[in-house]
Order: sequence, then C-alpha cells, then structure tokens
Amino acid sequence: MLTLFFISLFLILVLSALLFKFAISDGDFTLLSRRHVKREEIEDKVVWITGASRGIGEILAKQLASLGAKLILSARNETELERVRKQLTGKYAPEQVKILPLDLTSGEVTLKEAVEKAESFFPGVGVDYMIHNAAYERPKITALDVTEESLKATFNVNVFGTICLTRLLTPFMLRRGRGHFVVMSSAAGKTPAPGQAVYSASKYALNGYFHSLRSEEWKEWEGGNLKEIAIESLVMHRSPTSQRVQL
Ligand SMILES: NC(=O)c1ccc[n+]([C@@H]2O[C@H](COP(=O)([O-])OP(=O)(O)OC[C@H]3O[C@@H](n4cnc5c(N)ncnc54)[C@H](OP(=O)(O)O)[C@@H]3O)[C@@H](O)[C@H]2O)c1
Repeated sequence: MLTLFFISLFLILVLSALLFKFAISDGDFTLLSRRHVKREEIEDKVVWITGASRGIGEILAKQLASLGAKLILSARNETELERVRKQLTGKYAPEQVKILPLDLTSGEVTLKEAVEKAESFFPGVGVDYMIHNAAYERPKITALDVTEESLKATFNVNVFGTICLTRLLTPFMLRRGRGHFVVMSSAAGKTPAPGQAVYSASKYALNGYFHSLRSEEWKEWEGGNLKEIAIESLVMHRSPTSQRVQL
C-alpha cells in the first residue's frame, strides 16, 4: 500500500514537473531541448532582422548586437530603426549596424533590391541569419467577421512578403553553402486561436512553407536540418557543422 502511495506521488510529481515545463515553454516541448546560444555562433555573423523597429525585433537586435553580430535592421519606420540602432552596443554596434528600410508588401522588385543591398552591406560576407520577425498587427475579431482588407493585409506581410524575401535570399545562401532562417511563429501557429483566425492561419502557412522548404533543401546536406528554436520560431540550418541555436 505504501509502495503504491509513493509510486502515485512520484507520478504526480513527474506530471506536475512536465506540465510546468510545458507551460514555460509556450506549449512546445521542442523548445526545451534548445540550449543557450554560444557567442561564437553569433559573433561576426551577419544577422538581418525584419520588424526591428520595436517589440521582439528590437529586443533581438539588442541581444544579438551584444553577442557581436553584424546587424541589418529592417522595418518601414526608418526613424524608429535609427532609434533602435543608437541604443545598441556590441562589437559592431552601433556604428556598423546597417539600417535597411523595407515594406514587406512592396513587391518582388523592391524586395529583390533589398536582398541585394543586404548581401552587399558587409564586404565578402552575405546574410548568415535572416530573422523573419515582422508581422501585421493582429486586431482581435471573430473568424466570420474578418474583412477582405484585413485578410489581405495580414497575409501580404506575414506570408507573401516573408516567403518572397525567402525565395530571393535563399539562392545566395545556397551558393555560399550556409544560411539560417529564423521565423517567428506563434502559439497561434500551433493551436486554435479564437479571435485570431487570420493571424493564426498566416502562422500556420509559414510553418507549412518553411517545413516544406526544409524537406526540399535538407536532402542536399548531410546533417542539415530545420530546427525549432525559442520564441516559437523555426531556424533552418544549412551547414553540416552548425549547431542548434537558442536566442
Ligand atoms: N508579441 C507577442 O506576444 C507575440 C507572441 C507570439 C508571436 N509573436 C510574433 O513575434 C513577432 C514580433 O511580434 P511583436 O509583438 O514584437 O510585433 P510588433 O511589436 O507589432 O512589431 C511588428 C514589427 O513588424 C514591422 N512591420 C509591420 N508591418 C510591416 C511591413 N509591411 N513591412 C515591414 N515591416 C513591417 C513593424 O515595423 P514598422 O511598423 O516600422 O514597419 C514592427 O517592427 C511577430 O511575428 C509576431 O507574430 C509575437
């Protein structure tokens, strides 16, 4: 009887610990296996962040700058990007941080020019990490009340712009034989999100696209892989020697 009690107690404790971990990992156990980023994985690497003018993008910029990354900051609001740039400190910050104003809805021709600029900012090296962080604001509204305008606005930024940028940048990475995509998803990209149907749909779309991209490109690289990392994100590792990264 006493044995049964202790076994039950043990199981309850294990379950509670798992539930706690599940809660702090935003409902995604895979994030728990990620270790903290090592400075050498980021130092001297070119990292391009979209949506860097505020929020998570601004915080990422600060952390990556302090780890010695060569940063390219993008968003539409140049003044805000400058504000962020001035606050950064690190091996290359703030002086060598590049500002690249960009509207993800501006179409392929403009995005191509942005990719070419980003690739040429740091002589001899291209973009190592593309962090797709920008997203359209997500006003809460029921699925049936979504307007066509809001549907298009969300998908134009979160999906079409992000995929277009990826399509344009990937060939440069393939030629170099290395490159990473970090894609901000969301809990809404993994579970139903009442009041956020379109936002949720856009994040599911990104998951579908990037998992498929990984499945196509992974074949060429022994050990290459698409890894999930923190903040509900995905990263594609193209180098057989690269490690998992947690930001
Ligand atoms: N905050 C959360 O609780 C949360 C939770 C889960 C996932 N996420 C995801 O994490 C990411 C960052 O979230 P956040 O809350 O930090 O976002 P945020 O504060 O709303 O910032 C969005 C960023 O995207 C940029 N942006 C918006 N439209 C753009 C466009 N057309 N072209 C280029 N850039 C554009 C904005 O800059 P400009 O206006 O200057 O262009 C801004 O820098 C998003 O992908 C979001 O879905 C956030």
